[in-house]
Amino acid sequence: MSSSRYIRIFDTTLRDGEQSPGCSMNLAEKLEVAQALADLGVDIIEAGFPIASPGDFESVKQIAGTVRGATICGLARCNEKDIDAAWEALKTAPAARIHVFLATSAIHREFKLRMSPDEIVQRAVTGVRRAAGYCDDVEFSPEDAFRTEPDFLCRVVEAAIDAGATTVNIPDTVGYATPGEIYDRIKLLCQKVPNIDKAVISMHCHDDLGMGVANSLAGVAAGAGQIECTINGIGERAGNAALEEVVMAMKTRGDFYQCETGIDSKRLLPTSRLVSKVTGQAIPRNKAIVGRNAFAHESGIHQDGMLKERSTYEIMSPEEVGFTKTDLVLGKHSGRAALADRAKTLGLTLTGEQLQQVFERFKDLADKKKEIYDGDIIALVQQQISGN
Ligand code: KIV
Ligand code: ZN
Repeated sequence: MSSSRYIRIFDTTLRDGEQSPGCSMNLAEKLEVAQALADLGVDIIEAGFPIASPGDFESVKQIAGTVRGATICGLARCNEKDIDAAWEALKTAPAARIHVFLATSAIHREFKLRMSPDEIVQRAVTGVRRAAGYCDDVEFSPEDAFRTEPDFLCRVVEAAIDAGATTVNIPDTVGYATPGEIYDRIKLLCQKVPNIDKAVISMHCHDDLGMGVANSLAGVAAGAGQIECTINGIGERAGNAALEEVVMAMKTRGDFYQCETGIDSKRLLPTSRLVSKVTGQAIPRNKAIVGRNAFAHESGIHQDGMLKERSTYEIMSPEEVGFTKTDLVLGKHSGRAALADRAKTLGLTLTGEQLQQVFERFKDLADKKKEIYDGDIIALVQQQISGN
């Protein structure tokens, strides 16, 4: 019997991701992305923030009415109007979740909300109760949780669970925490909140210091059962934890995390490219998992190793995430083995001596160009054979 824990993947590409400057999507694009997310196997799709605009309301409503295979979630602040609007947009979904949030840190309480700790607890309880009156799947987020006093965070989380929250999301709203702090805080919640077993703990980590993925995984190691993330890591400011990275980290390092998800990893690349297309945000070449270079090797030593045994330089296979193959890029760092392999793939038969001569011409050309294409190799071989 497997001892793996199931980790829910909550995708917020259409909500937090869309909050990223330059990433807004129209209704048709949101429907296409939502369907792709359901096909990818995400457990929960946060489809939007219904009170934010009539367009957001309509897209949550259409996604709730048409996309099947995942729970559809809508975001709401802790007030009646937001929660009522969220339910109005979600109510046709076979599985719906209302996600209510309220800031809890001293900075937010004092400067943004101007509310006392007691008022915060009361507002959280009232909001969660109202949402629980509409559906039995309610998530509560104490915004800026990691800059909230630990005792107060425990108090709010306990009260939210008593009021009916079935998931408690612990956001690192400003991407400030370190993996060690995340681990300790989640462990503390598990130890100090008496009713914590009645809810799933969720991670929601922003990437301001480049630690969004590491922080999400630290939370999982400490006992969290859900990760909130976005395709390509898009989101407010520096973004959110990237879905493709957290999923492949748990899959590739199953020996360490002992977790599984419902994600069909072969769909990661097509989904990433779809989100890139509709948002107009290019995927960086060196982006982990889905970047063009993620499975590309240029140096001669690496290419030689790869041709002998893939696991020398690949910890995952490109096919696992949706690429068709490893890319042995020919450039000035490449060696004879990769050139011979490419020539063979192109149907070009060379003697040892011919290969050596083509290789010398290839190195001269590679010093002048960033990348050598198949057409260049064919031309070099033809020149060699014809003696030019
Ligand atoms: O970053 C954040 O705190 C949020 C909440 C709404 C969960 O996006
Ligand atoms: Zn966020």
